[in-house]
Amino acid sequence: MSYTNILSDFSNGITTITINRPSKLNALNSATIQELHDAFDNANEDHDTKVIIITGSGEKAFVAGADISEFADFSEAEGGKLAAQGQALLFDFVANLGTPVIAAVNGFALGGGLELAMAAHFRVASDNAKMGLPEVSLGVIPGYGGTQRLPQLVGKGRAMELIMTAGMIDANKAQSYGLVNHVTTLEELIPFVEKISGKIMRNSPVAISAAINAINAGFENGVDGFKAEILEFGNCFGTEDFKEGTQAFLNKRKAEFPGK
Ligand code: COA
Repeated sequence: MSYTNILSDFSNGITTITINRPSKLNALNSATIQELHDAFDNANEDHDTKVIIITGSGEKAFVAGADISEFADFSEAEGGKLAAQGQALLFDFVANLGTPVIAAVNGFALGGGLELAMAAHFRVASDNAKMGLPEVSLGVIPGYGGTQRLPQLVGKGRAMELIMTAGMIDANKAQSYGLVNHVTTLEELIPFVEKISGKIMRNSPVAISAAINAINAGFENGVDGFKAEILEFGNCFGTEDFKEGTQAFLNKRKAEFPGK
């Protein structure tokens, strides 16, 4: 499938989705959000895709936020709809995908850009990256999950400060906060993320998907994560991957997971 605002490439079990509006620092307009939804959906449905990497084109930005030019004239109702649609189409959608999603943060990740990175299952940043949720400087608040996911990742006090000051933190501080797992040079970013993807791909895709569900359950209001874990754990015993994984171990050979 061809897209206008993004690129999607498949190689060696990895689909890499690249937001490709470098002249606008990859800002997320509604057309880009729709294309990202379609690309993530396609990659998730593709049996050969074991890991999805999301990144930005150019050397300056991952994503510099939602496209401010698109919503500057919105009414209250339109603003609410923008957040609800964006969360459903992209941010919650990505967070709940069964295929692992890694954000390779290659520069500015601001507003909706940081929210997209936080919706991914984990993050790696290049050392030029700058991250923040500057929405209050525009008279609005983060609307794509940022007020929820930032405190989950860095703690309430740090999230309060970062959001209230509309400040930016660099990659090393983001790592010390637990917002990103690793920091690399810009050149090493994608090879490094591909290396982690290789480690993920050795394991059962079905079990990884079940683990994502169980981990996410613990962050959902009114859901008992321990119960979700028991359910997902039990379900694994009915999968071909479980039979292959246990037989391979007992027969002292490498598992070849069918992904079923
Ligand atoms: N929405 C729409 N356009 C954006 C954008 C956004 N969030 N962020 C950057 N752009 C556009 C700029 O308008 C500019 O377009 P132009 O050349 O047609 O004027 C282009 O991208 C380059 O940005 P510029 O501001 O010139 O780059 P810079 O290096 O001087 O500054 C930033 C970089 C990231 C600090 C600055 O672009 C910025 O503050 N962006 C907005 C960040 C933000 O508030 N995000 C949250 C939105 S809710």
